[in-house]
Amino acid sequence: MRKLLISTVIAATAATGAFAQSPSDTAKARRAFFTLVGFEMSTLGGMAQGKIDYDAELASQTAQDLMTLGGYTITDLFAPGTSNDDLMGETRAEAAIWEDMDGFQEKGMAFYEAVVALNEVAGDGLDALRPAVGQLGGTCKACHDDYRASDF
Ligand code: HEC
Repeated sequence: MRKLLISTVIAATAATGAFAQSPSDTAKARRAFFTLVGFEMSTLGGMAQGKIDYDAELASQTAQDLMTLGGYTITDLFAPGTSNDDLMGETRAEAAIWEDMDGFQEKGMAFYEAVVALNEVAGDGLDALRPAVGQLGGTCKACHDDYRASDF
């Protein structure tokens, strides 16, 4: 997410209309992206909480999938004109993202670093996995607290 978040700044300052998709389509794709992030996180969270059995291979694969998602270029997913002020009822992305791209990037960096750290330990047993998942979960929450509306 490092590279892609930096390019998000460019997107935010670029002239609107640089993207072919409609704002609604963009919001839909953005939510789909985070649905995948949430899906993978559920597997790891389930293991960390003892709801599903720890499985080193599955944990490693899932952590790797999060890494893949972290490498996805989200610039176009955060095109200008797609906040919840612009698209009421379609997105929870707060206008604060576009007003404070540096702060948003910082949250993204923390997420990325936690995913890297998770990948280092995911296959090393439940005791190693648990704190790394907790750390990662904290970075989700930190971004959501500031930049995702609690409701539509
Ligand atoms: C850098 C900020 C940021 C980080 C880090 C982040 N999210 Fe999000 N997330 C968002 C924003 C913004 C939205 C709202 C997207 C929208 O509604 O357009 C969102 C939406 C979601 C959604 C709802 C998708 C939907 O269908 O509307 C889920 C699930 C989610 N995030 C899970 C996670 C998980 C799990 C993590 C951590 C592993 C995470 N997110 C990390 C910013 C972030």
